Amino acid sequence: MHVLVTGGAGYIGSHTLIELMAEGHDVCVLDNYANATPEVLTRVRTLSNGQIADYRGDVRDAAILDQIMQDFAPDAVVHFAGLKAVSESQQKPLTYYDVNVGGTLALLHAMDRAGCGRIIFSSSATVYGEPDYLPYDEAHPTRPASVYGRTKLMAEQVLTDWAGADPGRSAVILRYFNPVGAHGSARIGEDPQDIPNNLMPYIAQVAVGRRPALTIFGDDYDTPDGTGQRDYIHVVDLARAHVAALDYAGRTPGVRPFNIGTGQSYSVIDMVRAFERACGQTIPTRQAPRRAGDIAAMQADPARAQAELGWRAQHDLDAMTASTWAWQSANPHGYDAG
Ligand code: WQD
Repeated sequence: MHVLVTGGAGYIGSHTLIELMAEGHDVCVLDNYANATPEVLTRVRTLSNGQIADYRGDVRDAAILDQIMQDFAPDAVVHFAGLKAVSESQQKPLTYYDVNVGGTLALLHAMDRAGCGRIIFSSSATVYGEPDYLPYDEAHPTRPASVYGRTKLMAEQVLTDWAGADPGRSAVILRYFNPVGAHGSARIGEDPQDIPNNLMPYIAQVAVGRRPALTIFGDDYDTPDGTGQRDYIHVVDLARAHVAALDYAGRTPGVRPFNIGTGQSYSVIDMVRAFERACGQTIPTRQAPRRAGDIAAMQADPARAQAELGWRAQHDLDAMTASTWAWQSANPHGYDAG
């Protein structure tokens, strides 16, 4: 199948390219490199021993989208391109709505013009907000607590209405829990451009000596050790969920959201201990108050993905930390070192 991957040079996009190519799909990337580098695609080509057509541009740009539709004629689109920093989204709401919702609209318009009716969308468990119950299933109410979360939910609504308007269309919404880890080659991985917002890349940068200590946000949550619990999922498992979703979209019209998590959760302290096992060092930590907007715990019920996509996570916590450390220690400054 011809698959256009928007945001394909990013952390999740790049791992997904590898899994798509391994399944024999032809891929094409559109990325503006706002939070990525072209070096990623060089490495993915080497790892996959294959070709990747790539276009540098913005997903809101109708002209480049039409060009890709004409040159590559995708059968399906996997749509990652977007902004994802929760705190930044509160400061720049219009930018987030523009890129995340406007980008999705521009892409669907271009797909309509080209007669492409199949899309896999990169959404987030953050659409659920404060839990009424855990684990979250897909029927849990959605009331996101941040601008970022609302842009994802709004894009989901656009996709739902788009898919509902024509029986030839299919939209699969993947609600990711907390992606971590790196490809087994240690050649691609997560490379935040600034101070990491997320736990795992922060711990990895402490371990490699780029930062002095991890700040633990909150030790007074209603959890066994008082620190926040999350459902961490290996990025390779997450990437494979997209391949399964493409197959599903090919046989199922309409729209369907799926939780993509393991169904297990770990605390901040669990993650620090696991990372210490992987890297053989002590991770210095310091305690700080809760981070604004954080919830105590979240966890996926991945039963629907298992039953309908035939997908389940295969990697455990030690595989997540070991692969993160392999990537970070081999690339202490991420892709910068070349
Ligand atoms: C995990 C836990 C923190 C950093 C966010 C977004 C979500 C999604 C993924 C998607 C929490 C604690 C963290 C640190 C810490 N984004 N922590 N010290 O908050 O679950 O989800 O990222 O595109 O939308 O909200 O992930 O990795 O930031 O935090 O103690 O330096 O680690 O408080 O308990 P989160 P996270």
